[in-house]
Amino acid sequence: MKGEEDWWRGGVLYQIYPRSFADSNDDRIGDLRGITERLDHLEWLGVNGIWLSPITPSPNADWGYDVAEYCDVDPAFGTLADLDVLVDEAGARGIRIVLDIVPNHTSVQHPWFVDARTSRMARHRDWYVWADPGPDGAPPNNWTGGFTDSVWTLDPATGQMFLHNFLPEQADLNWSNPEVRAEFERILQFWFARGVAGFRIDVAQMLVKDDELRDDPIATDTDDWYSQMIGVRPEFSRHRPEVHDVYRRWREIADSYDPPRLLVGETWVQDIDQMASYYGTGHDELDLAFNFPFLFSRPDPTSLSAIVAATEAALPPGAWPVWTLGNHDVSRFPTRWAKGDRDRTRALLMLLLTLRGTPFLYYGDEIGMTDVPVEVPRDPMGRDPERTPMPWPEVDAQRADRDSTLNLCRDVIALRRESADLRAGDYTPIAVDGGLWAWRRGAGVIVAVNLGREPASLQDVTGTVALCTDRARDGEPVTGPLTLSSNSAAVVLVHGTTA
Ligand code: GLC
Ligand code: CA
Repeated sequence: MKGEEDWWRGGVLYQIYPRSFADSNDDRIGDLRGITERLDHLEWLGVNGIWLSPITPSPNADWGYDVAEYCDVDPAFGTLADLDVLVDEAGARGIRIVLDIVPNHTSVQHPWFVDARTSRMARHRDWYVWADPGPDGAPPNNWTGGFTDSVWTLDPATGQMFLHNFLPEQADLNWSNPEVRAEFERILQFWFARGVAGFRIDVAQMLVKDDELRDDPIATDTDDWYSQMIGVRPEFSRHRPEVHDVYRRWREIADSYDPPRLLVGETWVQDIDQMASYYGTGHDELDLAFNFPFLFSRPDPTSLSAIVAATEAALPPGAWPVWTLGNHDVSRFPTRWAKGDRDRTRALLMLLLTLRGTPFLYYGDEIGMTDVPVEVPRDPMGRDPERTPMPWPEVDAQRADRDSTLNLCRDVIALRRESADLRAGDYTPIAVDGGLWAWRRGAGVIVAVNLGREPASLQDVTGTVALCTDRARDGEPVTGPLTLSSNSAAVVLVHGTTA
């Protein structure tokens, strides 16, 4: 059973893209020792956990998300011993390490797939999804994805096609096969036994496919934007009801450790009820399901607050939201949502860190890092600009500047630590009016964000500004309207209550 309080509920998590964070040996590839050397930064910032994008061996067709071995460390990043040191050193600073697991597909260079394609009778043949081509070599069904038009590639030696929802170098595993399920349970246990605090589960909604490989229905204009983009509503190719059996079993495994291990899903669905379904009853599936409707929202208070309200309403009792403004797959939020504007970036950071739920920062968010144009792209999907190296000299400069975004971010995190209302209090919306969005956290905290072009006021506030993106206002008493300039935000401690 679960411990008294899950460490991640009140915490702040931080995603590291290991290749780009910190390079300890000057080979221009970030590595595990580099992360260990930078733990001081993360401790100073105040984060409680780190999620590492894949560190397992990979031929890097999809930069680590094409795994060639699940229980080892890619030599470019270091060794298992380096990971053990990172887990220990981070642990000594109160920071837990969460890894990425990629269960939907393996690299075509994984020994399982290498074996699977030797013959139709191969030991691992049924670990993958195979089908005979249609007439004239057509694909067996109409499934499609965001990476390639056809998700089927012919294996000439055995005359069948294999499924790959992503690149042809990433073969989808067959999750109807109990051997695959058992193998991944073993993989989870391998890492949990090493002190890993949990997993982020890659494309968590995708694992199980329709056994009969039925065609997905053609998308209509009432379907979500993603279905319309790929042309089908992915009813048979992903988000199958059977996938929940997998997570119920994983939950049992994660809960058998002390403390229980964290399971956070990359639940890449556009429907909030679908997303909520991955929490199960609230305590029998994933602890957290990433909120992609929020990430892909329009950045205005009306849209954002509607998603927050819908999420609060959809989650089962006891379940906990998770919020993020970016990751290694999308343009960084200071570019995407703020066009590089410093004030707006700061207001958005404050918003992220004060909603009810666990915030995940993406490395560089704390300094307001923007996308960096990359002349020679190396990612087949063009995601290089949001994966560029952490600019450590800028981090140092911001650390020395009291007014910097970095110090603001750190101060909001510190305020969360002091305020039970900010960590755990209910979310109660107070106002959504043009650019203004304000909400209460518990009884003692009011957060107000102005994302509009004009100044905006929240009426009848009595308290003290604990933190404002305009740092000159920290400590300002408020009686009556709280007025915020364009692209600013404030956390107010309400008088007469204890936060
Ligand atoms: C997830 C990862 C992304 C990867 C894809 C295929 O969406 O975040 O980087 O390309 O899965 O594994
Ligand atoms: Ca290196």
